[in-house]
Amino acid sequence: MPTVMIIGASRGIGLELARQYAAAEWRIHATIRTPAQPGELGRLAGNIVLHELDVRNASHIDALAKAVESEGIDVFIHNAGVSDRRLSWDEVMQINAEAPIAVTQALLPAVQRGTEKKIVLMTSQLGARYGSSRRLSTYGESKAVLNDTFRELAPAWGQAGLIAIVMHPGWVRTDMGGAAASLSVEESVSGMRQVIDGLKPAHHGRFWTWDGREHAW
Ligand SMILES: NC(=O)c1ccc[n+]([C@@H]2O[C@H](COP(=O)([O-])OP(=O)(O)OC[C@H]3O[C@@H](n4cnc5c(N)ncnc54)[C@H](OP(=O)(O)O)[C@@H]3O)[C@@H](O)[C@H]2O)c1
Repeated sequence: MPTVMIIGASRGIGLELARQYAAAEWRIHATIRTPAQPGELGRLAGNIVLHELDVRNASHIDALAKAVESEGIDVFIHNAGVSDRRLSWDEVMQINAEAPIAVTQALLPAVQRGTEKKIVLMTSQLGARYGSSRRLSTYGESKAVLNDTFRELAPAWGQAGLIAIVMHPGWVRTDMGGAAASLSVEESVSGMRQVIDGLKPAHHGRFWTWDGREHAW
């Protein structure tokens, strides 16, 4: 039974990732800020282990890495993110740009113990800097910084035998994407799962979309 770890599985895309991997009979490590109130995630049937994680909390990150010390993670997905205008620049940077790297680095040994050794960091096309003189929003800048850091680290991760990518999930109808978004969570997640299933070493270090197209930086 392959194992997936989903960081940020309480709702939206993360919850649908948990639902689809559970239906495909994967073992799931899912993180949530409030495991005492797991909501829909707690009602999913399958081999699901819940972990408490606020991605800004270093002791939560350490505890998560320790909890999976004796097993391997085949697919690691850092999905948690925010686009809330009420949050400060520092908070958005911390959650969207710094935490995905800190959490991933802490879980690298577990991914290396896995068979597939795949890492997916959820970014956004709004974080692409190419061909544009427009100013990025705080959200866009946070994802651009995530992409930049990912590109710096990717060579070392590749040498360590990992297949790591950043992924744009499309514009998806969630709390973040809003009701007018073009994709349902089911469509986005089933597309992303196909992309993840098909990942090969040649895909490593690149920016992919939910429907398998490569995205410019
Ligand atoms: N929806 C879109 O159209 C779209 C487009 C491009 C990229 N994305 C990216 O896709 C990912 C998922 O988006 P979504 O649409 O599913 O968003 P969402 O519905 O707003 O869900 C966000 C998820 O992130 C978690 N989270 C936020 N801050 C956290 C923290 N400090 N610690 C731990 N977990 C935290 C939330 O947990 P709580 O329930 O505890 O708040 C929730 O599970 C994000 O990285 C987002 O930037 C989304």
